[in-house]
Amino acid sequence: MIRLAIAKGRISSEAETLLAQAGLEFPSFDDTRKLIISDKSGLYEVLLVKPADTAVYVETGVADCGIVGRDVIEETDPDVFRLFSMPFAQCKMCVAGKEGFEYKAAKKIVAASKYVRCAERHFKQKQIPCNVIMLNGSVEIAPLLDMSDVIVDIVQTGKTLKENGLVVLEEVFDIAPVFITNKAALKTKQKELYELIDILEKQAGISQ
Ligand code: PRP
Repeated sequence: MIRLAIAKGRISSEAETLLAQAGLEFPSFDDTRKLIISDKSGLYEVLLVKPADTAVYVETGVADCGIVGRDVIEETDPDVFRLFSMPFAQCKMCVAGKEGFEYKAAKKIVAASKYVRCAERHFKQKQIPCNVIMLNGSVEIAPLLDMSDVIVDIVQTGKTLKENGLVVLEEVFDIAPVFITNKAALKTKQKELYELIDILEKQAGISQ
């Protein structure tokens, strides 16, 4: 049996379709409160977990593999194999703030983010002194109430920024879901994992 950890939310909704197209039939991820779900064949089990925790389950070997956003990989740098990106739930890590704010001209800025390491790394590369305030979500509030100058956050449709009167000031990196495996599992469950990798890669249009 192969256990797959999947980030709940935008990734799980679309991963379900890809898995179904690849012949792995699970009950709908969106309609269940179950956290551990078996497929019809009984060969696969999915753990539906918080995006930020997905790589932890894989790194510790509780799951053999996982599907997690590049945002989490960049932020937590887990000790796992990163095999391929998947062509759905694409978004971008961005610096955002009030329109017209020239953050690159600022001597020092305050940023709010769930992605403290990504934010610190980005501003360091840009040689902009920065204080990053860690928030767990709804970070758009911070610049609106002058808690921070900018935010560093995921933008997918842009709806959240727009509805809160903020704009993208700079794109930092593209985000796609990444298929990851536990390092030991790729040896101990080589055959089963490569079978899954093969069908998912084909389904994702990565290999023929
Ligand atoms: C992310 C991000 C934004 C939103 C952007 O939150 O933090 O709030 O998505 O998406 P949009 O550009 O399509 O509006 P997410 O849904 O990942 O979770 P969170 O609210 O827990 O941060």
